[in-house]
Amino acid sequence: MAEMNRFARWAVNRRTEARARRTLARLGDRLSLGAGARVLELGAGGGGLLALVSERYGPSLLVGTDFDPAQVDAARRFLTDRWGTLPPALELRAADALNLPFADGSFDVVFAMMMLHHVEERHAAYERRPRALQEVRRVLRAGGTFVYSEMFRRAEIRGTLAELGFTQRFLRPGWRVDLAVYETPNVPPAAPSPRP
Ligand SMILES: C[S@@+](CC[C@H](N)C(=O)[O-])C[C@H]1O[C@@H](n2cnc3c(N)ncnc32)[C@H](O)[C@@H]1O
Repeated sequence: MAEMNRFARWAVNRRTEARARRTLARLGDRLSLGAGARVLELGAGGGGLLALVSERYGPSLLVGTDFDPAQVDAARRFLTDRWGTLPPALELRAADALNLPFADGSFDVVFAMMMLHHVEERHAAYERRPRALQEVRRVLRAGGTFVYSEMFRRAEIRGTLAELGFTQRFLRPGWRVDLAVYETPNVPPAAPSPRP
């Protein structure tokens, strides 16, 4: 899984802000994100979305994560070049989307832009993504929002989200990439049954 080669990193980081700008324009007012929101981004790459979310919405907590420490450094450089210093509400850390180091229900919004296929050994596989989506469900509060874009196994992702109790609020199907907004139910997830 996961670590990109140098060319892939360069490609991801080069247009990080332009991609994020396009995403937010496509979401428009479907993204309800108040100033008090606690926001998590998985696979934050070059940090473009973190920059725009911070500047436009001023969330009370914004955590940018990436599996690859080199990408966490790249996002830190991008944001430090932009602002001089990182705002206190922003945290950057290396974390695996398959095993998130956050308490249940600790975020109002989770973003996963073009990163879900990266949790797989092969991008077209569908073996680990259910686990990543369970983790998203776990760390979102009841009534929280999941925003993602993805190019591989898009129908399966929608199927898993439905099984996990998410409701689709917006879907922009492209010929290559889906952009979607889902909401968790207004109740906390059921506790896992005890192991025998
Ligand atoms: C194609 S890039 C997308 C970056 C950014 N979200 C964007 O849209 O520009 C995928 C990112 O996911 C990260 N990634 C890969 N596997 C991951 C995992 N298991 N957990 C968290 N991040 C992961 C990669 O290091 C990379 O930065």
